[in-house]
Amino acid sequence: MQDASHKLVIVARTLLPAGLEALEDRFEVREGGIDGTREQLLGLVPEANALISDPTVKVDDELLDAAGDALMIVANFAVGHDNIDLEACRRREIVVTNTPNVLIQATAELALGLTLAAARQMSDAERELREGRWRGWDPGAYLGIELSGATVGVVGMGGIGRRYSRLVKSLGAQVVYASPRPKLEAERALDAHRLELPDLLAASDVVSLHAPANDETHHLIGRPELDRIGPGAILINTSRGPLVDEAELAAALTDGRLGGAGLDVYEHEPEIPQALLDAPRCVLLPHIGSATSLSRDAMALLVADNVAAVLEGREPRTPIA
Ligand code: GLV
Repeated sequence: MQDASHKLVIVARTLLPAGLEALEDRFEVREGGIDGTREQLLGLVPEANALISDPTVKVDDELLDAAGDALMIVANFAVGHDNIDLEACRRREIVVTNTPNVLIQATAELALGLTLAAARQMSDAERELREGRWRGWDPGAYLGIELSGATVGVVGMGGIGRRYSRLVKSLGAQVVYASPRPKLEAERALDAHRLELPDLLAASDVVSLHAPANDETHHLIGRPELDRIGPGAILINTSRGPLVDEAELAAALTDGRLGGAGLDVYEHEPEIPQALLDAPRCVLLPHIGSATSLSRDAMALLVADNVAAVLEGREPRTPIA
């Protein structure tokens, strides 16, 4: 039996020192480790009062049952929360929190970097150079897209979509967007027009995804959508892998039906289909959207703050509605 003041916090994998130190002062904290297995986690969670998860940790009935009735909060170290069965948490009256806002700039900058890299075929160009295949300056090689004067289609106008829009607009792009609801403030600030997705895909030189993964967005971009984007334009995804049908994307790149792609996220991370690894004009990054020290420390602190709030009977700062 735990005494009333003793609270157990389980970190499913690992938490940066900024967050860990804040928690260890007040609670007992145990970490599963970055390479911990599902079986080990199931063995670690019983009696937990708080569970800290991340996008690689599936929080479902099995894990919640293993944790037991003392669990009060699941604090996700991420803004996306498609790894968590929210309904299963609701049924057990477990609070769920995420880390919005603090990662907006880092993720928007990464999306901009990927956009520039994909627009100029930087991965293929660097690979050619490293492999000793570069034969010298070539006026017709690696002809790309300039953002100045381009139309950038932003799918999902939340915090990250808005910041990315601001960045590409500062380089001279015109922004159009698709969103379930009009975003009037973004329209005013960015002079952005809202379009239906098929129209946005056809109109854009760059299509950038900033929407959550859910039933509505699963394989939002498949063969017909890729064909609408076409050989003169590129697709960027820094949101979640399941938004894109990877087999169709690899085929579109290989067949020359799509101009290029830049991906930071994949449907079954860390697995990447071989066809995508082999596809031309494709920049691939290992899910590093929010990976700056500033952003990750702020995320760790926010996670710790949310956990402490719930365990001490206060409102958490960023509950998921
Ligand atoms: C990372 O992928 C996040 O959702 O924060």
